[in-house]
Amino acid sequence: MPTRPSADSDPNARRLTRARARPLPRPPGRVGAAPAVRGTPLRVKSASARVASRDSLRVAATATEAPLGVFKLEYDISKDDATKSASWKEPVIVAVSGAAGQISNHLLFKIASGEVYGPDQPVALRLLGSERSREALEGVAMELEDSLFPLLREVSIGIDPMDVFVDADWALLIGAKPRGPGMERADLLEMNGAIFVEQGKALNAVAKPTCKVCVVGNPCNTNALIAMENAPNLDRRNFHALTRLDENRAKCQLALKAGVFYETVTNVTIWGNHSTTQVPDFVNAQIGGEKAMDVIDDNSWLETDFTPAIQTRGGLLIKKWGRSSAASTAVSIADAIKSLVTPTPEGDWFSTAVCTDGNPYGIQEGIIFSMPCRSNGDGTYEIVDGLEINDWLRERIKKSEDELTKEAECVSHLTGKMGGACELIGEKADTMLPGEA
Ligand code: LMR
Repeated sequence: MPTRPSADSDPNARRLTRARARPLPRPPGRVGAAPAVRGTPLRVKSASARVASRDSLRVAATATEAPLGVFKLEYDISKDDATKSASWKEPVIVAVSGAAGQISNHLLFKIASGEVYGPDQPVALRLLGSERSREALEGVAMELEDSLFPLLREVSIGIDPMDVFVDADWALLIGAKPRGPGMERADLLEMNGAIFVEQGKALNAVAKPTCKVCVVGNPCNTNALIAMENAPNLDRRNFHALTRLDENRAKCQLALKAGVFYETVTNVTIWGNHSTTQVPDFVNAQIGGEKAMDVIDDNSWLETDFTPAIQTRGGLLIKKWGRSSAASTAVSIADAIKSLVTPTPEGDWFSTAVCTDGNPYGIQEGIIFSMPCRSNGDGTYEIVDGLEINDWLRERIKKSEDELTKEAECVSHLTGKMGGACELIGEKADTMLPGEA
């Protein structure tokens, strides 16, 4: 695992560590064979050594953090590559924040299995947690080890994004502080703002400039904006906030109403914010290639039942579960990534919240707004132009746009980029966070 160069001179400052699972026998004379001593950097070898500098590949080792476990490799895993077929690829480096949380617990195993990046794509997982979750992170890594995934070439854990994001191809930013009792929306923005400023800066400093970033921690659109604004070295188009869960929810409800299987529902757009102002677009949706409105033939249901049901489904789930959606969120993150790394089927599109710069719908530029997109499978996308925006949609899309514009102004204020009052500060929130309804 490469670490940033500045940490080399201060082993105590290096907080990145490999997962510990079970003791492995250490033949004397091999690298890493000496008993671990607090603060002594040990060299380990792994697939990532080929991606970055092998010499910079070190982990902190302490008396309690002995270099154990299969991912503290003491052999050069890259030699294994010679035994693979000619099409064997370099591992894709995927950094995941909130890695000890419930969403990650579902997602990481999908990624490691090859379900997300493809059955011939090796992966290196970099797990970001907090000091508090360090033990849990090790537990996650142990379970990954025990699963014997052939494509999983590296697992490492850490609590500093400047270490964990090194050379990341993808950053899945799942961790965020949830809103506690009595907290206002501005408090959440401020608290999470600090996290996403730090993570944006770390991405800017150490991730690959081509890194794709998917923000899941709420309020995800604005958190994505904060990360993007703090990572000018990365392409603004590579920042996403997750609205695929909302799209999946909308597809399911349309299918149920139409009495068809959800596979036949296509062209569903979620416009706007992943909040209760989001607009699930039934106007352009299709069922079996027909307009969903014609198939369902019940505008009253679409407007007054379907729309709020999707907008507030996260909240309903929290009431039922006593916590936020986790498994379905993980599935939708996997879907969102798959949609970017595989070509979009002809005529269809998917929803993802992306930067509005130069968008064809006249949405305020410089915010992160969910829109219909298509990908040719290389991780890039185009916003789909030409959808029908009737008055009903326009009015609601505007509301979501206004909400996000207000949050963006608030963020600018909080990060000191702009003077003047932030309307959200000190006020009771006038809009609900996802999951609050
Ligand atoms: C969801 O839509 O299920 C979540 O974003 C809800 C939440 O607030 O965590």
